[in-house]
Amino acid sequence: MERITTKELADAFIAEQIEALQAQIGDGKVLLALSGGVDSSVVAALLIKAIGKNLTCVHVNHGLLRKGEPEQVIKVFKEELNANLIYIDAVDRFLDKLAGVSDPETKRKIIGEEFIDVFAEEARKLDGVKFLGQGTIYPDIVESEKGVKAHHNVGGLPQDLQDRFELVEPVKFLYKDEVRMVGKALGLPDNMVNRQPFPGPGLGVRCTGAITRDRLEAVRESDAIVREEFAAAGLAGKVWQYFTIVPDYKSTGITENSERTYAWPVVIRAVNSIDATSATPEPLDWALLNKITARITSEVKGVNRVLYDVTPKPTGTIEWE
Ligand code: XMP
Repeated sequence: MERITTKELADAFIAEQIEALQAQIGDGKVLLALSGGVDSSVVAALLIKAIGKNLTCVHVNHGLLRKGEPEQVIKVFKEELNANLIYIDAVDRFLDKLAGVSDPETKRKIIGEEFIDVFAEEARKLDGVKFLGQGTIYPDIVESEKGVKAHHNVGGLPQDLQDRFELVEPVKFLYKDEVRMVGKALGLPDNMVNRQPFPGPGLGVRCTGAITRDRLEAVRESDAIVREEFAAAGLAGKVWQYFTIVPDYKSTGITENSERTYAWPVVIRAVNSIDATSATPEPLDWALLNKITARITSEVKGVNRVLYDVTPKPTGTIEWE
């Protein structure tokens, strides 16, 4: 299949997919997991074009989303695109299940399974939904097949759902850059199309080890500061992916009043990539790093150090888990 590198190719893909979706779905109903990331947003927009109100989007707040994210999903999809959108606050449910679990693959499995359960519950409340939409993209499939990592979008549906739902995955053969191209051609807002890739398990993979609510807040708050400062420095949309990690590890520090601290470090990751299979670190400006460090150490609770990860992929993955 030809890679989507131009608006014309994106338009052709959209026209083809709308026809294919209409042929697959007919007057059936689709339930879509709308995380608010570029993949599921593009799938939602394609489905809105293809079947309109026969699409029901479900946004699950699993407590591992970035600051302001659930609010933005509601604003863009419910208010601007007029989609059928159900918002589910499942924060306690996810965090309770994850308490004390430190193995990364087990965390991913719990989040994935809980996600499916929430959907199953929602689906059973809705009459006549036969299809399940998913924002699976090509690297997800490849990495799952290679056994590099479990991916919540691929497989793992309980038998009763497998029997009941047919999957609708219109971007499953696209790479991330192609999905963005399609999103742009669909007329989605710039901030959504240029949104950074974000893992399904969300901040859960960036709060390494067993997730605690306080350390998760440190991830969320430091991530918000990095995003704000990157935007102010004109780097939003230019650097491919940037975020923070808070390891399950403390080190000594000292306050301005000479009080000893024992607190977490925040790790900043900022990389450029085409399709996530390889990546290079962004050569960040020293003054910007200093500014971010000053903000994080003064504004984020429980943190006394900031580090910048300069590792390319390979050898490091983009995420820390
Ligand atoms: P790694 O860490 O393997 O990540 O270098 C490659 C890219 O994939 C994103 N990522 C995910 N995306 N669901 C997703 O949709 C996931 O479970 C997932 N895990 C990692 C990661 O952010 C990076 O862009």
